Amino acid sequence: MIFKNKTVFITGAAKGQGRTVALAFAKEGANILAFDLAKKIEYPAYNNSSSNELIQLKSEIESLGSKCEIFAGDIRIEKDVIDAVALAVSAFNSIDVLFNNAGICAYGYAHEITEKEWDAMLDINLKGAWLAAKHCIPIMRRAKSGVIINNSSTGGMRGMNRLSHYAASKWGLVGLTKSLALENAEYGIRVISIHPTGVNTPMNDGLAFMEGSTPVEIAERSAGNLLPVPWIEPEDVADSVLFLASDKARYITGCQFVLDAGLLTR
Ligand SMILES: NC(=O)c1ccc[n+]([C@@H]2O[C@H](COP(=O)([O-])OP(=O)(O)OC[C@H]3O[C@@H](n4cnc5c(N)ncnc54)[C@H](O)[C@@H]3O)[C@@H](O)[C@H]2O)c1
Repeated sequence: MIFKNKTVFITGAAKGQGRTVALAFAKEGANILAFDLAKKIEYPAYNNSSSNELIQLKSEIESLGSKCEIFAGDIRIEKDVIDAVALAVSAFNSIDVLFNNAGICAYGYAHEITEKEWDAMLDINLKGAWLAAKHCIPIMRRAKSGVIINNSSTGGMRGMNRLSHYAASKWGLVGLTKSLALENAEYGIRVISIHPTGVNTPMNDGLAFMEGSTPVEIAERSAGNLLPVPWIEPEDVADSVLFLASDKARYITGCQFVLDAGLLTR
């Protein structure tokens, strides 16, 4: 139980990687603040999380013997973030780990996407991570410890066809990560970006649905992994996140942690 009595704030926790990471931390005894939009949004069309998913996650975490508070909110809205952080602190007294994971993805050539689509991508994937960090950092500074893990992508280390807005948001997370690491190292706070290749989650299913394709085709098209797999599993991401959040990674900060099945070697 390496995270017993620690509190982990996870954004985008209702589905996919966020959900799997929440359960993995809960198995290690952590208290979880699960933040998610928990409703359908206009863009991208596949994103239809529901509050039921959050309620179900809470009961799964509690059945593991850990505590969970859920918060349905939009990571782009500062008031939602402030209220969720206040809920975590009042319920658990601390925030030890922030997993900035909420994100969206959708295809579109840069010369064809709309201003609204660009703004949604950057606001959810990048501004949302800054907002959550902004309001967790003062709590971590007071405790003189904390870990922030930003879920970027291999798209945060390369260009991606028909994903300029997505790649721009994910490269932005690298700049945010390195700057937050610089600003907060003396307060015992580590900040790391992770860069998974395609992951087998509802995001991939959603992209496939919108493209009239299959999830495996989507993963293979955007990835090209060196190891012979179309994608990795959310559990692979959870293993890395738990390692990075643990004391075993105590001198890892400000860097890009790649879990790409060898993709970026090409
Ligand atoms: N799936 C992949 O292939 C892949 C690969 C590399 C990186 N990533 C990144 O990993 C992260 C998680 O992706 P996933 O694959 O689990 O996706 P997912 O679509 O399965 O889950 C994303 C979650 O984020 C939530 N969310 C979306 N907008 C939100 C908002 N405005 N406020 C609060 N919550 C919001 C959704 O409701 C959903 O529950 C994303 O940042 C994604 O870009 C995904």
